[in-house]
Amino acid sequence: MEERIVSSETENTEEQSFEQTLRPKLLETYIGQDQVKNNLAVFIEAARNRQETLDHVLLYGPPGLGKTTLAAVIANEMGVNLRTTSGPAIERPGDLAAILSALEPGDVLFIDEIHRLPRAIEEVLYPAMEDFCLDIVIGTGPSARSVRLDLPPFTLVGATTRAGAISAPLRDRFGVLCRLEYYEEHHLVEIVHRTAQIFKTDIDEQGALEIAKRSRGTPRIANRLLRRVRDFAQVRAEGAITYPIAQESLELLQVDRLGLDHIDHKLLTGIIERFRGGPVGLDTIAASIGEESSTIEDVYEPYLLQIGFLQRTPRGRVVTHLVYEHFQLEVPK
Ligand SMILES: Nc1ncnc2c1ncn2[C@@H]1O[C@H](COP(=O)(O)OP(=O)(O)OP(=O)(O)O)[C@@H](O)[C@H]1O
Ligand SMILES: [Mg+2]
Repeated sequence: MEERIVSSETENTEEQSFEQTLRPKLLETYIGQDQVKNNLAVFIEAARNRQETLDHVLLYGPPGLGKTTLAAVIANEMGVNLRTTSGPAIERPGDLAAILSALEPGDVLFIDEIHRLPRAIEEVLYPAMEDFCLDIVIGTGPSARSVRLDLPPFTLVGATTRAGAISAPLRDRFGVLCRLEYYEEHHLVEIVHRTAQIFKTDIDEQGALEIAKRSRGTPRIANRLLRRVRDFAQVRAEGAITYPIAQESLELLQVDRLGLDHIDHKLLTGIIERFRGGPVGLDTIAASIGEESSTIEDVYEPYLLQIGFLQRTPRGRVVTHLVYEHFQLEVPK
């Protein structure tokens, strides 16, 4: 069964509408990420008390941890509109100028995948972020002149899976930097219970824990696994999710006890079998298993690094002894 458990992009509209209904709307219902939440709560309250816009916020971290959700929470808590766009959707400086000039005072402008904004467009953002104005060039050649247009004050919320890919001048213009971390198990358990309640599905503590354990610290994956396990429970067990049901269905979905799926397996065993455990360059591994380098780098690798299965060295990626233990393979001499 070819089942994609992880993805940086939402694959279809069913998935999107499903995610939409599950998004918490307030800081209070946004589970986990306590440090980020506590900081934002202070900045939001301070801005509201001063009746100012919130400073620009950059959210970064691996896919599915709640960046888009948090952008909407920020707009909600500030009591303003959320306008959404993304780096790749803005092709020309004029596109961004049009979006900016249509903002209402205080609005949150959310730019997803902000690391993919072309440089020429980033430059339109600098004066907009700093002075709430647009510099527009009218005419061409010797008669060209630059005009300043005022913009309403707004809050830019940028999101990226790759903080390292953001240029320094852009990063420096964000007043608030929030790094989202992989979720702790007990927070994922809470998320699974919350989603099950929305689905009106019965789930016991051990069932929720089993799904949480296999979710790679990621709410999107927890919700997706829950949805799949719910199908098994409905067809095989009158609907309620218990430990045996969760365990059995996750095995059938080829999600192992650490939450690694068949692509992780292909990646790790590929490095062992074809490259003697590494070091091997990212592009070489990607080509050898038929995946995009960027997918491996953004989606798969961060978690494998986090749990100590992979290491990055100057000469390439290396698997650690934990991988040999996990797959019960002998460590080469
Ligand atoms: N803190 C949270 N509490 C409860 N549910 C959450 C939380 N964070 C994320 N989720 C759920 O996980 C799903 C994915 O979250 P979201 O789309 O915000 O992630 P993202 O970081 O924007 O991912 P990507 O990098 O792929 O854009 C959402 O459907 C949301 O319901
Ligand atoms: Mg997102």
